[in-house]
Amino acid sequence: MKERILQIVSEAKQSIASADSLDKLNDIRNLYLSKKSELMSFMSHMKELSKEEKAAFGQLINTSKNDINAALESKKEELAKKALEEKLEKEKIDITLTPRNYLRGSKHLFTTIVDEISDIFTSMGYQIVEGPEKETDHFNFELLNVPKDHPARDMQDTFFIDDNNLLRSQTSPVQARVMLSKHGVGPIKIISPGKVYRRDDDATHSHQFGQIEGLVIDKNVSLGDLLGTLELFAKKMFGEKRKIRMRSSYFPFTEPSVEVDISCFECGGKGCSLCKGTGWIEILGAGMVHPHVLEMCGFDNKVYQGFAFGIGIERTAMLKFGVDDIRRFYTNDLRFLKQFDKE
Ligand code: DAH
Repeated sequence: MKERILQIVSEAKQSIASADSLDKLNDIRNLYLSKKSELMSFMSHMKELSKEEKAAFGQLINTSKNDINAALESKKEELAKKALEEKLEKEKIDITLTPRNYLRGSKHLFTTIVDEISDIFTSMGYQIVEGPEKETDHFNFELLNVPKDHPARDMQDTFFIDDNNLLRSQTSPVQARVMLSKHGVGPIKIISPGKVYRRDDDATHSHQFGQIEGLVIDKNVSLGDLLGTLELFAKKMFGEKRKIRMRSSYFPFTEPSVEVDISCFECGGKGCSLCKGTGWIEILGAGMVHPHVLEMCGFDNKVYQGFAFGIGIERTAMLKFGVDDIRRFYTNDLRFLKQFDKE
């Protein structure tokens, strides 16, 4: 009997060792350890044995049972571990793979132009200053020589928040803000890019657009300085061969006021559809700071002079890249934006 029991244990251990699934392990457990198993059936012989034999036999059955159980448990653990490893292997994510359909963003044309213009002026020693988009009537108009009921207000009708607060119609109020912050002591040499708002909406005008204001205040500043500055800007922005010309114009806050044209970069000045046959393209408004504006903003106009200019951001980009409609800047059509992805 004892030999048979030891044989059963060794048989059981062999089948456990070769089992390759938890199901098979369960079958083996039933075969060797259930009540009806051969091993357990030996229990019924207990009563035929003497007291001493009973103890030894009981112990043998118990250790055999424990041996088989231990083998089953360790195999079970081994199989579970293997199953987990296989699962992890199958579900592995390779984080070094580049994701497909990866869409990279790029600078908006508007930002590219602001950066380009800013670079040109900072290289000439200008500082960049920002002003608020929500302005007061006082800064947007009155300090710029446009009192209430002045006809120049018509050209810049904007969005009023109440009688005194509005969305600025130009970046020019930054001139007044900077001058007042200097308490009459120059020099000042700034540009100020930002958004402005007007009651406009067509292919070349939008209710929201960008401007870059420029202001220089110092002793002995002349129209010649303005001309030289803008000529350099035109060449850097539109090509070394560009010439500029000034035509007299009117802005309430400058005297004299000028409209600045560049020689057409499409036809070189011969006349084409871009320059409407004139050979010249208007790029910005400028002038010498009006003595009254200097005075209102705390500067002695007998000691200080200055020049100012205002550049349209979208207009510059439209000219440079042949964009036909200002609204393309705001509709976020990727086919448009991608054309200016230089990165
Ligand atoms: N603020 C003017 C406009 O929006 C543009 C402008 C013209 C600004 C002449 C200036 C300037 O600083 O001197 O139409």
